[in-house]
Amino acid sequence: MAEQLFIVTGTSRGMGEAIAHHLLQQGHLVLGIARQQSTALSIAARNRGAELMQWQADLSQPLAVAVRMREWLQGLDASRFERIHLINNAALVNTPGPVETCPLEALSGTVRVGLEAVLLLSAAFLQGSQDWAAERRILNISSGLGRRAMAGAAPYCAIKAGLDNLSKAMALDGCKVVALAPGVIDTEMQAQLRGGDPALFPEQAKFAAFKKDGLLDSPASAAQKVLRYLARQDFGAQVLADVREA
Ligand SMILES: NC(=O)c1ccc[n+]([C@@H]2O[C@H](COP(=O)([O-])OP(=O)(O)OC[C@H]3O[C@@H](n4cnc5c(N)ncnc54)[C@H](OP(=O)(O)O)[C@@H]3O)[C@@H](O)[C@H]2O)c1
Repeated sequence: MAEQLFIVTGTSRGMGEAIAHHLLQQGHLVLGIARQQSTALSIAARNRGAELMQWQADLSQPLAVAVRMREWLQGLDASRFERIHLINNAALVNTPGPVETCPLEALSGTVRVGLEAVLLLSAAFLQGSQDWAAERRILNISSGLGRRAMAGAAPYCAIKAGLDNLSKAMALDGCKVVALAPGVIDTEMQAQLRGGDPALFPEQAKFAAFKKDGLLDSPASAAQKVLRYLARQDFGAQVLADVREA
């Protein structure tokens, strides 16, 4: 019983892919979930001899994924693991602007991936490992925007604020869970924000400056900070956290 299992959502690119990459380098068992697969992760797993599964699944339809995950966990040999983790990393931003400028389907998808999936996967993770001796940790990737509101990003602000308070309430129920803001990272999500129309998104220039002034963390560096936090002895002691203050 010495292995560690990591379930990570949003592993096809960005920080989620970098997180999975670090974990595979360390030889851990990784289940990645996203609509696309990452070839880079398959290669990394093969080279390291690490065990990787990539489920191609749409988290805007999270119920089926959560049921599948619970059943998959129930079929594992629990005695293999000393610690298991769920990293709820997948999220998306809509084209920046007031909610009335966004298609209703897109608004629904943002909330389903960013909040409903987090709730259902967390519950499925705990149900599927109910009687396990392994320690169970849930890390929800939050954002500074869960803690301050920003014009043009209301759905995103809502999912991250919801994720923060979901984490706080689950912690009160006894779950070891942290909602961690990972800093500003050079990923497609940032490109979407700085590509917004300044007429609809007042803070567009600030996001453009993050890139221009070299203020964005690389996905690999952000992933390392997140994983360092996840491995802390006192993980869960503080539910709302930020890598910039850790
Ligand atoms: N980048 C930043 O500056 C920043 C700052 C604060 C917080 N964060 C947070 O950090 C996390 C990672 O963000 P990132 O910047 O790495 O984003 P990203 O590059 O846009 O990657 C997002 C990931 O989420 C997955 N995803 C999106 N919609 C999905 C769906 N319907 N079903 C399954 N997976 C889906 C994507 O996979 P598929 O498209 O293949 O499905 C992709 O792997 C997010 O929670 C984000 O809110 C980022």
